[in-house]
Amino acid sequence: MSIRIKNGHVIDPDTRKDGIYDILVEDGLIKTVAPSIETEADQTIDASGCYVMPGLIDLHVHLRDPGLTYKETVETGAAAAAHGGFTTIVAMPNTKPVIDDEHKVAFVHNKARGCTPIHVLQAGAVTRGQKGEELADIENMAKAGAPAISEDGKSVMNSALYRKAMRIAKECGIPVLAHCEDINLVEGGVVNADENMKKLGLKGISNAVEDVIVARDILLAKETGVKLHLCHCSTADSVKMVEEAKKEGIAVTAEVCPHHFTLSTDDIPGPDPNYKMNPPLRSRQDVEALRQGLKADIMDVISTDHAPHSAEEKSRPITEAPFGIVGLETSVALTITELVEPGILTPMQMAEKMSYNPAKVLGIDKGSLAEGKAADITIIDPEAEYVIDTSAFRSLGKNTPFHGKKVRGLVKATISDGQIAYLESADRRPYAVRPKADAKPLPKKQEEAQA
Ligand code: DOR
Ligand code: ZN
Ligand code: ZN
Repeated sequence: MSIRIKNGHVIDPDTRKDGIYDILVEDGLIKTVAPSIETEADQTIDASGCYVMPGLIDLHVHLRDPGLTYKETVETGAAAAAHGGFTTIVAMPNTKPVIDDEHKVAFVHNKARGCTPIHVLQAGAVTRGQKGEELADIENMAKAGAPAISEDGKSVMNSALYRKAMRIAKECGIPVLAHCEDINLVEGGVVNADENMKKLGLKGISNAVEDVIVARDILLAKETGVKLHLCHCSTADSVKMVEEAKKEGIAVTAEVCPHHFTLSTDDIPGPDPNYKMNPPLRSRQDVEALRQGLKADIMDVISTDHAPHSAEEKSRPITEAPFGIVGLETSVALTITELVEPGILTPMQMAEKMSYNPAKVLGIDKGSLAEGKAADITIIDPEAEYVIDTSAFRSLGKNTPFHGKKVRGLVKATISDGQIAYLESADRRPYAVRPKADAKPLPKKQEEAQA
């Protein structure tokens, strides 16, 4: 099977190509990248006006398989990922049972091999059953192909146990993906601790809930030398601490989720559980610090924390509904609309934060469009304007605050190992894209573009 991608705007952080090229894919590999390729292929994709990036990588996804498959399965989650432009996703281990040994890692990997062309990498838990009492079998999970360990959903509150896990992870050559939340400081919080919380009559989650664990985890990484990756950073102080740690040469990287750089607590319209996630939406100053942190390359990665829940669960009162929103099918559009269009990120930085840097965090040979590499490729029309509609989602989860939001940036094709995992032109449920002729430019956020 060969594919020729014509006239795309190739944006490749690895080779630093940033211009119009054709790409020829053959036998699962990138055969040629050249200004013009005349060789006929089995399939030709016209990528005129589109970004052609190395396949996007999401370091933070909840697939709910095994055990919670009414929320999402490996198959539906992978289909959502392909629809969203991702060729590699890292699944978090807070399933039922928790992924805490090599057999459970293998279960997910085998299931993925049977149902999707994209790469599903299963992270292992840090502790058995995520109980925080004894370590999971980190070494054997790493041998079975777990690309990282993570206790996501919570923090390992026992610092001595966490330090031991970090030492083992370092030995195994895998990073620790850290969810930073001091459980003793949460005190029943539902949204950010501020004036809006008071208006809603809810309990708050203060910035310190995140910040004290970010500080601790950076210090433990400094001591152990493990590669520490901070998940879903939401506060201005997290950005500051990451900046300081990097200056000191500590092996720390950090991610920001689209909801945290798009919405602030001021945007919460009422007690709607689609605005409930952990960490919560923060203040406008925090949002601005996250945007500036991404722009300045202090924050390395954009990940989704895709957290599907059922309609029934999310229709409970906000105090009882579970934390989390879906993100795989809105991430590209939010990144383009909120960061690239206003000039906060260049398209090259987008490719770095959504593909090249995540590959570096995991130490995997991806995130590149160099000749000879595996053909993981994402094609995106950055100008296509449409309205996000959850009925187009492949995910079983429809829990998002972005339903009805007007955006730009549409995934046209997702190619994984040279196989077409998603093709918009062959799609049964395409978005109604506004014809380019009548598309009005989205309001530019001048203050931010100049910042
Ligand atoms: O909002 C969240 N949802 N945050 C988490 O840490 C866990 C996740 C989930 O598993 O639903
Ligand atoms: Zn988390
Ligand atoms: Zn998560």
